[in-house]
Parts: sequence; C-alpha cells; structure tokens
Amino acid sequence: MLWLNCNAFYNCAFSLANSIHLTPFHNIKPFTIALALKIRNFTQAICPPENTDVMKVYLDNAATTALDSSVLEVMMPYLTEQYGNPSSIHGFGRETKAAIEKSRKVIAKYLNASVGEIFFTSGGTESANLVLKCAVERYGVKHIITSKIEHHCVTHPVEELEKAGKIKAHYVQLDENGRVVYEDLERLVYQYGKDVLVALMHANNEIGNLLDIERVAQLCSEQGALFFSDTVQTIAHFPLDLQKTPVHFISGSAHKFHGPKGVGFVFIRSEKQLCPLIHGGSQERNMRAGTENIYGIVGLAKAMENSYNHILEYHSYINDLKSYLYTELKNAIPDIKVNGVYGDESLYTVLNVSFPANENSDFLIYNLDINNIAASAGSACTSGSDQGSHVLRELAIDPSRANVRFSFSRHNTHEELDYVVQHMSKFYGITQEQGSGH
Ligand SMILES: Cc1ncc(COP(=O)(O)O)c(C=O)c1O
Repeated sequence: MLWLNCNAFYNCAFSLANSIHLTPFHNIKPFTIALALKIRNFTQAICPPENTDVMKVYLDNAATTALDSSVLEVMMPYLTEQYGNPSSIHGFGRETKAAIEKSRKVIAKYLNASVGEIFFTSGGTESANLVLKCAVERYGVKHIITSKIEHHCVTHPVEELEKAGKIKAHYVQLDENGRVVYEDLERLVYQYGKDVLVALMHANNEIGNLLDIERVAQLCSEQGALFFSDTVQTIAHFPLDLQKTPVHFISGSAHKFHGPKGVGFVFIRSEKQLCPLIHGGSQERNMRAGTENIYGIVGLAKAMENSYNHILEYHSYINDLKSYLYTELKNAIPDIKVNGVYGDESLYTVLNVSFPANENSDFLIYNLDINNIAASAGSACTSGSDQGSHVLRELAIDPSRANVRFSFSRHNTHEELDYVVQHMSKFYGITQEQGSGH
C-alpha cells in the first residue's frame, strides 16, 4: 500500500515534469525528470515494493545476464573449502592451480585455440586495454583503425593513446545503419599497412550490428596489420573457430553469458606476443599479475560449456523471441523503426527500437522501469548530464524519438514479451486490438 503511494508520488512528479514542457519553464524539464527519478529512488529505498507477484521482465541481457545456478554450483567449493593460492606449491595451491588450468582448456577447446593463447583477466574492459596499449608498445603501432561506435573500453584507450602522441586514430566510414564500409576499411589498411592495428568489434552491444570478422581478419593478415576484435557480445553466442579466422586478439567476458562478473579472458595468437598491462607476480605466465579469481575462472568455463553445448538451440529460441517482439511491436505501433541492421547481419540477442515521439517519449524508459520492465535507454538525448548514446548519435538518429534497446536471453519467455507490448501500446494510447489488427 505504502509502495503504491510512493509510486503515485513519483508518477505525479513525472506528470509535472511533462506538463512543464508546455509552459515557458520548459528549460527546467530535464531537471524535473531528474528530480522525479530521485524521488522514485528514494521512495523505493525507504518503502520497497510489497507485492512480489508482479511480473518482472529483464530485457537488458546485453548489459549483463543472470548467473546460472549450475555455474554457481561449480564456483561454490572455491569460495569455501578450496581456497588455496594457486601460486603456492602445497596441496591447497596445487588444487586451485589445477582448476584454473582445467578451465583454460575448456575455453581453448570451444574456440579451437591452444591453451597457451588464453589469458584470464577481469573482463572485457581489461582485455581491450591490454591489447590496445600493449600492442602499441610491443609492435610500435602508429595507426589504429577503429570505428566511432566501438564500446568505450576501446574508444577511450584509443583516445588516450592518441592524446599521448603514440598513435593516430582513423575512424572507418559507416553506412546510415552503422555497417562498416569495407571498401573504406580496405583503403585505410592499404594506406597504413604494417604499422596498423585494426580494432573493430564483432557485434555492437547497442544496435547488434555484426562485423564480417573473417573478411576483416583475412584483409589484415594479407596486409600484415594486427587485428583485435572485441568479441564480448558474441563469445558463447556464436561459434568461433580461431584456426579458421586469423584474428590476432579477441576478448571475452563471463557475465555476458550467465557467468560471474569481474572475469574474462583475452586470446593472444601464439605468434604474437604482448607485454603485460599489470605488473607484479608471475601469474598467467607473466602476462597478468595478481592472484587469480579462481571461482570466477571456474564459473567462466562452466558458463562457456553450458552455452556451447546448446548453442544452436539457444540461438534459435532467442532469435525467435527477437522476431516475435519486433513483429508484435510493429503490429501495435506501426511507426517503429529498428536502429542498426535487422536480420542475419545482426546479433540475435539485441533489438534496438526507435519509437515515435510524443509528449511522453522522454519518459519511456522510466515508464518501463516503473512497470518492472528492464531495458536500456540507448537514447540520443543530449539533455542535462545525460550525453546519450555515442552509437545512436553516430547513426544520426532523430533525437526526438525514443530509443530502447531490448536484449534477450534464454530465460525470457513469449509471455514476458506480450506484457512488454501491452505496456508499450498503453504508453502510446493504443488499445491492443487496434494495434495488432486482430
Ligand atoms: C562490446 C563490449 N565490450 C566490452 C564490454 C566490457 O566488458 P566488462 O564488463 O567485462 O568489462 C562490454 C560490456 O558492456 C561490451 O558490451
């Protein structure tokens, strides 16, 4: 009851924010929205929801996924009785060391890599920093060819390297849907040749566009350029055979496929060698100092195993969820558009939708949240401190429209998606019968 009152309070604050845009005080609208959110967060903290039966829909799986119970199960012994330091020579240490090496074998097996090419890290961000900074150091890279829509774990280190005068960054041309223009990439690689590192992600985490990783790997290997692909969104979602794809470096992160947070890996092809990013002990064959995150590493391997053992089945199920949501939303609200590419050239776990503008569209993502639907804004909004999505800005998306990234996992159901469509229809004042045309 108290919770309902809190929600009503929050909704009032939003209504107030909304009506302000019709008045001469419309400039304070972003401030009023921020205030409404603060009120909501505060009221949630002091009076959490009492009704636990309400449907909660988690569609933010590109941000992170739920830890699988079978993963937790294999991790537990290393959080309790198997606590030895893997660098210790006694039995406790040998036990945990063996667990790490067994996990490394699992990762290498699924990627068709050799065990010596896999190094455990704290996740995708560290792996990308390691490759970019250490490849520049070790190979005297002078030019980095990348894109404006990479994850910040790539764009920011590239900017830092450029600021330090170590490299010149070149941004490959993208088409209106955010696809890499391969001819432009070829031009850049031919121009800068051997001094080049190409850093292009396999799948974009916001719009889901897929890169033809084989084509880029082939181009780079022919021209003697280094190639790093941020594969954080595709590891354990697509098969990748590293014997067939001559990419030099890739990265992975366990929490994107139902593993634990704070653990991942970097693949460094055996003929390439990098210097460490973190200096200290001799862990990870001198490549990454610091006592290993054993339970994380064991969890990462189990999550890989779970995903790769059912990869086609999960692919088909999740892909079906994505097309179902798109079709149902399109039926209900015909004026929606997909941001990025839709279909085979896109990641089946991500659907980024642009919704029409109306007087409430600034609040769409908050409205979803208040109705227990977790999705990501990915908005091109530039108001207040919210700089919006650098990816959508690059695609020149109409900033007045509301953009929502829905991202799926095998735990989502069609019933949850029906609930989302119902809500979206309500938000746009469309009755379901009207919208779906049934
Ligand atoms: C494409 C991409 N790269 C890198 C990362 C960073 O990974 P981590 O959270 O493991 O540092 C993410 C996570 O959001 C991502 O989506």
